[in-house]
Amino acid sequence: MPLPLSGRVAVVTGAASGIGAATARLLAERGAKVALLARRQARLDELADAVSAAGGEAIALPVDVTDPDALARAAAAVRERIGTADLVVAAAGSMLTAPFTTGRTHEWQRMIDTNLTGLVGTVHAFTPQLTEAAAAGRVADVVTLSSIASTAIAPNFALYCATKAAVSHLGRNLRTEFGPLGIRITTLEPGVVDTELMEHLDDPAASDWLQGLIKTIDVLTADDIAELVAFAAAQPPHVNLSQITVLPTQQA
Ligand SMILES: NC(=O)c1ccc[n+]([C@@H]2O[C@H](COP(=O)([O-])OP(=O)(O)OC[C@H]3O[C@@H](n4cnc5c(N)ncnc54)[C@H](OP(=O)(O)O)[C@@H]3O)[C@@H](O)[C@H]2O)c1
Repeated sequence: MPLPLSGRVAVVTGAASGIGAATARLLAERGAKVALLARRQARLDELADAVSAAGGEAIALPVDVTDPDALARAAAAVRERIGTADLVVAAAGSMLTAPFTTGRTHEWQRMIDTNLTGLVGTVHAFTPQLTEAAAAGRVADVVTLSSIASTAIAPNFALYCATKAAVSHLGRNLRTEFGPLGIRITTLEPGVVDTELMEHLDDPAASDWLQGLIKTIDVLTADDIAELVAFAAAQPPHVNLSQITVLPTQQA
């Protein structure tokens, strides 16, 4: 029996760790050829080797998503090496928190650059391939990693929450243009997932709160989110799982 995603050509940003890495691994297991994008080449090479050892196909493309030229080069490399992309998962992101009054403008800029500008740049770089795939009658998907933070109100997380609200609203609006072209947009809004994301926090209050949650409740895993991406991508072409909120059962 063919695998549910065989014939698909996937691109996953943030594939060096966490949700992106788990998603890339699962998409390859389900039959997709996968391009792995992030900045840490060694991590991407390791994952590409693991995918091919398991009988799948993956290529490592070190890219900083805040660099549009690097994204354009990556898009050309994907087309040349594994074919026209029809499934783009934009998972690259960063979460840095502190009271607004501390004015850590460089951290705000980094989140805006990665979570919003980088995500928009990723979708832009692969739009010609998605359009071409859809026009040829193939299923075409964009999956964006927003967060429950897109609607949550949380002290010290204002900029992170704002970038995620922008990602969710971008999806709602882009759907009006992409839907008629046959390209689906799925916005994922997870609650707490146990990944490296928390390790970049140096604000003790935010870090203690999140680590406390991770220790006291059964939080989501990156594999849980990967399953949702693979499920959404395997739906028939007329079905767009447009927005998926997923929380640990014990997260309020
Ligand atoms: N963990 C959670 O609780 C949670 C909940 C809701 C939503 N999310 C979202 O899920 C996404 C994935 O996060 P995660 O939890 O899997 O965290 P993670 O393990 O820290 O993954 C983030 C990934 O983004 C990549 N990245 C960061 N900046 C980049 C850049 N400028 N260019 C290219 N790649 C970049 C990192 O790789 P390199 O450092 O090698 O570039 C890393 O692979 C993020 O958008 C996050 O906001 C996470």
